[in-house]
Amino acid sequence: MNRRPRRNRKSVAVRNMVRETILTPDHLVYPLFLEDGKKVKSEVKSLPGNYRWSIDKMLGEIESCIKLGINSFIVFPHIADKDKDKVGKYSYSKKNFYLKAAAKIKKEFPEVCLISDVALDPYSVDGHDGIVKNGKIINDETLKVLQKMSLAQAAAGFDIIGPSDMMDGRVRAIREALDGKGFSDVSIMSYTAKYASAYYGPFRDALESAPVEGADIPKDKKTYQMDPANKMEALIEGELDTIEGADFLMVKPALNYLDIIHMMKDNFDLPIAAYHVSGECAMLIAACQKGWLKYEEAMPETLLSIHRAGADSILTYFAKDFAKLYKERK
Ligand code: PBG
Repeated sequence: MNRRPRRNRKSVAVRNMVRETILTPDHLVYPLFLEDGKKVKSEVKSLPGNYRWSIDKMLGEIESCIKLGINSFIVFPHIADKDKDKVGKYSYSKKNFYLKAAAKIKKEFPEVCLISDVALDPYSVDGHDGIVKNGKIINDETLKVLQKMSLAQAAAGFDIIGPSDMMDGRVRAIREALDGKGFSDVSIMSYTAKYASAYYGPFRDALESAPVEGADIPKDKKTYQMDPANKMEALIEGELDTIEGADFLMVKPALNYLDIIHMMKDNFDLPIAAYHVSGECAMLIAACQKGWLKYEEAMPETLLSIHRAGADSILTYFAKDFAKLYKERK
């Protein structure tokens, strides 16, 4: 045998020397759930270790993450029923606690990268990402709301606007709205290839934002989120988002879609983000709680695989735990 690949695995030093993929906390974005009120820290039952925070408590959490090396956060609001309607008006209202919270976070920690969520679902009585009329999700009318929501978020201080709604043409609509009001420095991280996945359950529990049951309300999001069977469609979405002015292309979920992440990285020059979604994290947590997997080993391997597949940045509920391990092991 003149070729023995095991020679390059023979010691820690050699393995470190030839390692191809290095994941650091810099690559990670930490999702946080925000609730109105004070002194709230309530655990999301289907996503242990994750909480709905009121802003006073969330500031402390962000501070502890920064100390561990996490500097990017994406915040999602839990909206009370009284503030929901058919068209998401509260999303751009001056009263919206989500917008006030963003301003507080940026005032306290100007150096963090703060990412928003743009979609109607947390604000919608129907629990859909767009306006529902006669059993259909109305695309172009929804765009106008998304524009107002994005402008309000940019004004509040968000660094990156994150449209997660999957309406056609929304990146261009948002880019035009932002540029028109002088927010040309505000970026767009587009949920480019977002699939109609079964893995969003814990997130919808956290926000109480699942599609509502009703005669004229579609029971799922399959007319706007992508079919898990489709791959080429991700290229169409990627091309459109690139032309329309996105700064990042996101694939979501991550683990069952590593082939899509890889394909997007090969086909586009923009940074690729992957959303390692709530259900994907929950199933690993559950297996670890049962003692079937070791969290300290399985969790970093999972994140590494998403990075190796081609994701430049990863949105994951494991960001803080990864950063802790990274610090310990360094
Ligand atoms: C909704 C939105 C969802 C997630 C992020 N934004 C859920 C959905 O599309 O129903 C899911 C994230 C997760 O599961 O962690 N616009």
